[in-house]
Amino acid sequence: MSEQTLSNLMHEDRRFEPPADLAADANVKEEAYARADSDREAFWAEAAERLDWGKKWDQVLDWSNPPFAKWFVGGTLNASVNCVDRHVEAGNGDKVAIHWVGEPDDDTRDITYAQLKDEVSRAANALTELGVQKGDRVAIYMPMIPEVVVAMLACARLGAPHTVVFGGFSADALASRITDCEAHVVITSDGGYRRGAASALKPAVDEAVAKTGDLVRHVLVVRRTGQDVDWHGREEGGRDVWWHDAVDGASAEHEPEMHDSEHPLYVMYTSGTTGKPKGILHTTGGYLTGTSYTHWAVFDLKDDDVYWCTADVGWVTGHSYMAYGPLANGATQVMYEGTPEKGRWWQIVQDYKVTILYTAPTAIRTFMKQGREIPDGYDMSSLRLLGSVGEPINPEAYVWYREVIGGDRCPVVDTWWQTETGQIMISPLPGVTAGKPGSAMKALPGISADVVDDDAKSVGNGNGGYLVLKEPWPAMLRTLWGDDQRFKDTYWSRWPGLYFAGDGAKLDEDGDIWLLGRVDDVMNVSGHRLSTTEIESALVSHPKVAEAAVVGAADETTGQAVCAFVILRDSAGDGGEDIVEELRKHVAKEIGAIAKPRQIMVVPELPKTRSGKIMRRLLKDVAEHREVGDVTTLADSTVMDLIKTREGSSS
Ligand code: WTA
Repeated sequence: MSEQTLSNLMHEDRRFEPPADLAADANVKEEAYARADSDREAFWAEAAERLDWGKKWDQVLDWSNPPFAKWFVGGTLNASVNCVDRHVEAGNGDKVAIHWVGEPDDDTRDITYAQLKDEVSRAANALTELGVQKGDRVAIYMPMIPEVVVAMLACARLGAPHTVVFGGFSADALASRITDCEAHVVITSDGGYRRGAASALKPAVDEAVAKTGDLVRHVLVVRRTGQDVDWHGREEGGRDVWWHDAVDGASAEHEPEMHDSEHPLYVMYTSGTTGKPKGILHTTGGYLTGTSYTHWAVFDLKDDDVYWCTADVGWVTGHSYMAYGPLANGATQVMYEGTPEKGRWWQIVQDYKVTILYTAPTAIRTFMKQGREIPDGYDMSSLRLLGSVGEPINPEAYVWYREVIGGDRCPVVDTWWQTETGQIMISPLPGVTAGKPGSAMKALPGISADVVDDDAKSVGNGNGGYLVLKEPWPAMLRTLWGDDQRFKDTYWSRWPGLYFAGDGAKLDEDGDIWLLGRVDDVMNVSGHRLSTTEIESALVSHPKVAEAAVVGAADETTGQAVCAFVILRDSAGDGGEDIVEELRKHVAKEIGAIAKPRQIMVVPELPKTRSGKIMRRLLKDVAEHREVGDVTTLADSTVMDLIKTREGSSS
């Protein structure tokens, strides 16, 4: 973010007080901050009481071997029982858990908690039948259909950690995740709907499975689109099993085991600063405590709310605030299979009388571009609270969201967190905080955050630096799957005792936090995390490419966009007319369509320091059409002139 934008942000002085009725009846009041400060562990223990435990814990937090935390030590529970069974037992079996809205207009299903319990139990029995045991990993690669939630909860019920891979990722990306966590079972569907058309998923699974030797024993396939699939059933020695064959006929009775509080719940792969994705490990008791508490506190959840989180289940937001948080709280929610289409979201808000909407700034900016006439055509008076997540929300988008979508009456909660944190960490409390457009405000009760300089010293109000977390929190990642050392190196080695989030931030004069984007080589495109290095490796794996450098350039709609600079091999000549398209396709194949560069420039050289480090800062200047900054540390200072000439000819 440029200095200019930064100072604009700092001069933002609009304030939005909480609505009086919401404040009066808020789930969490101001006193929570002081209470949590005076005894953090007691505060989180009280939050853990929200859950049903098989056996209560002996110790709230074991931090004797940092950075390896253990929460609710000695306690046992079952995540799926907490998300489903207990609501049925409490007499809420008829309450709708999921209003599912398929992409084809007429395709909807309402699933009650009682139905969900039966379906999860059947799936758990079916998975057991396929040999899945406690501790086994199961990969899930599915569209936004109810079965994906059922599959996750069935795994949780058995204590088999799931790893959900976003359906937009490629076969290669899926294969590397299956391999890294050694999953023997993959759950998928024939396909899903994308922008009105059926799009296949099973072929990518077949390709991924073929790449992983004989690791995968079974592929459980939901029939969603009915499209033709290559089929290798068990009767012919293959791995494929239809979901409807295995699950529909299974018993709806399943006796759940209580798992240790620290039993692994799931692994979610996310981009880091190197090419290899990191397997973020979340465990059971602390994760469920952190997500259910924050979902209740930040969204001020009431029994009759209709909540809608628009995230795909393949990302952490879908895990914490579509699956586990809301279901643990017994909420009624909307789940939508499609992507932001003109008007369709607002039709859903109107039809289901959605009261709480949680989405990403990139979607808001897209709607802004389309114009307010579209949302203005719907009755959205049911809405009472709006949330934002995934990237910094610029004040214009915040104010538009508040006014146009929220009718100027709904508070906006800008929630900062990460795959690693598992739960929301920094956010306004809707009944307490006077929101400032563009600021995530302050750490939630029980969370300790700060902004520090290079020497880990608090920068103090009015200054910028690095965002850090100072105390362990319940839903924190426990390690990186199979790589304790990388876990320590990545997050805990920069400054002893502090968790380094990788985000830049500024404290304003009131001490409120403004997030400024990543300070490392991680990009944020439409709220999705991508690694520059990972895309560079993908480009270099193409036979025509000798070298590649990738930067995230500011983009009005997507926040950042992927811009690549490549040097071709001599043997490739000028690469041919379609080289740019060829390379974009190659990246899509290697990683997934979301990683496709917006722009690829073929250049003769890359700007490097004398020690050979690529100076991405300069490339970013080019990508953002700025005057190129200081080039004095370049080994060859004329390189930038060469690149700029190319830019002139390509645009
Ligand atoms: C960014 C998504 C500013 C940030 C939940 C973080 C945000 C990364 C916000 C994590 C926000 C997320 N304001 N930036 N409200 N929320 N980010 O792991 O850079 O996909 O480090 O988790 O997104 O992305 P992740």
